[in-house]
Amino acid sequence: MDEGKLRSRLTAAKLILGNVSETLSPFLEELENGVAPVGFVSFDLDYYSSTKQALTIFEGSPQTRLPRAFCYFDDIIQPLRAYLNPYVGELLAINEYNLEHEHQKIARIEHLTWLRERPALWNHQIYVHHDFTHPLYTRSVTPLGHRQLPLQ
Ligand SMILES: C[S@@+](CC[C@H](N)C(=O)[O-])C[C@H]1O[C@@H](n2cnc3c(N)ncnc32)[C@H](O)[C@@H]1O
Repeated sequence: MDEGKLRSRLTAAKLILGNVSETLSPFLEELENGVAPVGFVSFDLDYYSSTKQALTIFEGSPQTRLPRAFCYFDDIIQPLRAYLNPYVGELLAINEYNLEHEHQKIARIEHLTWLRERPALWNHQIYVHHDFTHPLYTRSVTPLGHRQLPLQ
């Protein structure tokens, strides 16, 4: 990676390089100070241990994240020969997160493939971090204009 070239092309994004075990906590502090809540995370760290560390991004106060934050997990499908399962790798990190957090859960979007016009493999890699006790979790997710009117 040409770091200088990459940095020069960034406009709104901020590049943070380093081991997540060291970089995540200061980043979370920035979030606590109201930069913007996390709405999406793409996890592509290859390992159980790294993903476990990275998932601490959801351990700040509720203001550091949206009530539902989308997650993409790159390492839960391939390579086929690894026969990935909930007892190793990213899937194990997700499982442990769910066991360790009573009111916060990371769950696949059920039936996403069937709900999309063009089903694709990545549909199985999209999860949502649900923060059930987030002050905004119970706010209606139905977009304005999609109101249902009672039948006469
Ligand atoms: C498959 S590569 C990611 C490639 C990248 N997403 C892309 O598409 O170009 C996995 C990356 O995770 C990084 N990684 C693994 N454990 C890490 C950790 N604890 N902290 C930071 N990076 C880590 C590795 O250095 C490697 O660059």
